[in-house]
Amino acid sequence: MSSQAAGAAPVVKPVTFMSPEAVARTAAIQTRLQPVVSAERWPLFAPDIDAILRLKKERNAVILAHNYQTPEIFHGVADIVGDSLALAREAAMVEADVIVLCGVHFMAETAKIINPEKTVLIPDLKAGCSLAESITAADVRLLRQKYPGVPVVTYVNTSADVKAESDICCTSGNAVKVVESLGVDRVIMLPDEFLAQNVQAQTKVKIIAWKGYCEVHELFTVADIEELRAKHPGVIVMAHPECRPEVVEASDFSGSTANMIDFVDQRRPPKVMLITECSMSDNIAVHHPEIEYIRPCRLCPHMKQITLPKIREALEHMQFEVTVDPAIADRARLAVERMLAVK
Ligand code: 13P
Ligand code: SF4
Repeated sequence: MSSQAAGAAPVVKPVTFMSPEAVARTAAIQTRLQPVVSAERWPLFAPDIDAILRLKKERNAVILAHNYQTPEIFHGVADIVGDSLALAREAAMVEADVIVLCGVHFMAETAKIINPEKTVLIPDLKAGCSLAESITAADVRLLRQKYPGVPVVTYVNTSADVKAESDICCTSGNAVKVVESLGVDRVIMLPDEFLAQNVQAQTKVKIIAWKGYCEVHELFTVADIEELRAKHPGVIVMAHPECRPEVVEASDFSGSTANMIDFVDQRRPPKVMLITECSMSDNIAVHHPEIEYIRPCRLCPHMKQITLPKIREALEHMQFEVTVDPAIADRARLAVERMLAVK
């Protein structure tokens, strides 16, 4: 039986006692997060945020967070945020000794490939990716045998082993540019079949695709969009290019997670619907609470493995270190650096 008297107002207790100094240290973050984190929920996050800020200094660490991280991570403790392309670019410029990658494993591997001398941590090793799981290095070698001389363009959502077998990497933010930078009439583009088809719609270069899919974006349908457009007239629909081509076709705009954020920043549409992972709307709402967000969003179970308590433990215990065989890293780095050189 509940000890609370019937009709009494619920009492929300802070999870951990915070000193007045700690409250003062986190006050600006609480204010920033107000549009998406209520005063009642703030005590759930504040002690971990305060500890992480202290640990970052002690460890000379920086936190890189992907746009799909929850707002208390994205706006609470991250030093650098962005899409996969921005995280790769920024990782190349980090001066700190330790990088904590709040995203999925391939992102941490990419940071390690670029920074072999730094310690790269991921707060949970279970943060994988269905696209990265869909292809192996042996598959790429077989594709090369089948299509001799055709360059291999590899989405960054792949393991270091797969990158090492590739000519150049790409992200959803630069895929068309990367494909066209090669000056050839045919490329193999892997592993995301829908991204390959969406790129094919924008280039004359013939694309040979692989059968990999994002388990989050493949679930969105044209019917979802039509139903919500009917309920919310005037809504601007934005779809990630990992969605099916017909979903991208039914949208008003398609681009990487950073492209979507830029679109909202610049155009400020009164109503938006982001056909992508759920945290995107929350993270944008912190800067633009005046916008109405229609949310047919889906959670990425891998991105959601990363939490504040796990980030705190990662810094306390220096876990979980991401390593890449140096011989593989040297070859994978060439593919990543070629991508970063494409303007
Ligand atoms: P972006 O590069 O657009 O951030 O996408 C990464 C990703 O994993 C999308 O599912
Ligand atoms: Fe991978 Fe899809 Fe999750 Fe992105 S959203 S990390 S592509 S499973």
